[in-house]
Amino acid sequence: MLRLASAAKDQGVAMKAQKIYLDFNASTPIAPEVVQEMEPFLSQHFGNPSSVHWAGIPAKGAIEQARKRVAELLDCHPGEVVFTSGGSESNNHAIKGVFFALRQKGNHIITTQIEHPAVINPCRFLERLGAEVTYVPVDRYGSVDPQDIQKAVTPNTILITVMHANNEVGTIQPIHEISEIAKGRGIIFHTDAAQSIGKIVTKVDDLGVDLLSVAGHKLYAPKGVGVLYIRSGTPIEPLIHGAGHELGRRAGTENVLLVVGLGKACEIAKRYLSDNRILKLRDRFWKLLQDHFGEKVVLNGHPVHRLPNTLNVSFVGKAGGDILSRLDGIAASTGAACHSGSVELSPVLKAMRISPDVGMGAIRFSLGRTTTQEEVDAVVQRLKNTVPLSATVC
Ligand SMILES: Cc1ncc(COP(=O)(O)O)c(C=O)c1O
Repeated sequence: MLRLASAAKDQGVAMKAQKIYLDFNASTPIAPEVVQEMEPFLSQHFGNPSSVHWAGIPAKGAIEQARKRVAELLDCHPGEVVFTSGGSESNNHAIKGVFFALRQKGNHIITTQIEHPAVINPCRFLERLGAEVTYVPVDRYGSVDPQDIQKAVTPNTILITVMHANNEVGTIQPIHEISEIAKGRGIIFHTDAAQSIGKIVTKVDDLGVDLLSVAGHKLYAPKGVGVLYIRSGTPIEPLIHGAGHELGRRAGTENVLLVVGLGKACEIAKRYLSDNRILKLRDRFWKLLQDHFGEKVVLNGHPVHRLPNTLNVSFVGKAGGDILSRLDGIAASTGAACHSGSVELSPVLKAMRISPDVGMGAIRFSLGRTTTQEEVDAVVQRLKNTVPLSATVC
């Protein structure tokens, strides 16, 4: 028994030493305080929040407390917070909801070429229903020029949707400037803040948005929960019709357990916004890579206007997928797929017009609250040992 326990412990230590998670833009672990807050709603409070009796009251109270906590992070009125099943649903609701509410007024939507598929694909779907969509290009850093948005506006434009920060390269968009253009023309403005929330300040009035999407699992809350912020008075159809939950804006009994988790995660996130520990680690990571690889390593994304946790780097002339497969135990993402010797860059890197020999070597490292300096240094060392300085072909 003792031997078994100590063998398991040894194995545990060995596994811990090997496994390093640097993919926080893909998903975050649930924060321990969030787990604790959710527990009574797993084990005790089962009531329907719409029930007015003793079983429903704690559930209803918990949802309203969560709504307040989200509102504090977004700096909005709690009544403007609508709980959803995540970032994809929030984006679908925003885009389709405005189109269906305003289709008599116009059919033109403006977005960018680097949006998440949860924005691009609802737009593509609406094109089949008669929408016209302009996909505004970005520069080499993944930044949108507000003037390009301005030029794309037509008398038929009903919606502009531009992500706050990009999931692959972390570039932060000039949302406030774009909001001025939208406001000046009476156009509804949505931003997908799935990646920015909790990493940088996301106050809806500072950003000037009418609609904003949140994804819980990027914020140390569980997967399958999110928020659509709907500024009071914004014309929008529900995506899911049914009973009058969420003041008639999103039908379906609220997922109390996950909503409670998201509320707590938002409360905690406020505490981290002024903490630059992750930024410092990310910059250390980049400096160590530059010191060793020199011109053989290239930064993808904006050098300054970028999420503080995101480091997307290209190992020039190498294949990111090959490198990651040799870095067994290190969780990160690539920006290109290599098939039978040819390279398919991600739509984001393509839109940034990154050349194939640079783009194919892209790896996104995204750091989080549990990332340590030891982990960063260990990954750099593994990269030094793994990636030769000479050129290889995919
Ligand atoms: C920018 C962005 N938008 C939307 C989503 C989708 O969110 P969810 O997974 O909660 O549906 C993601 C998730 O990767 C994302 O990064």
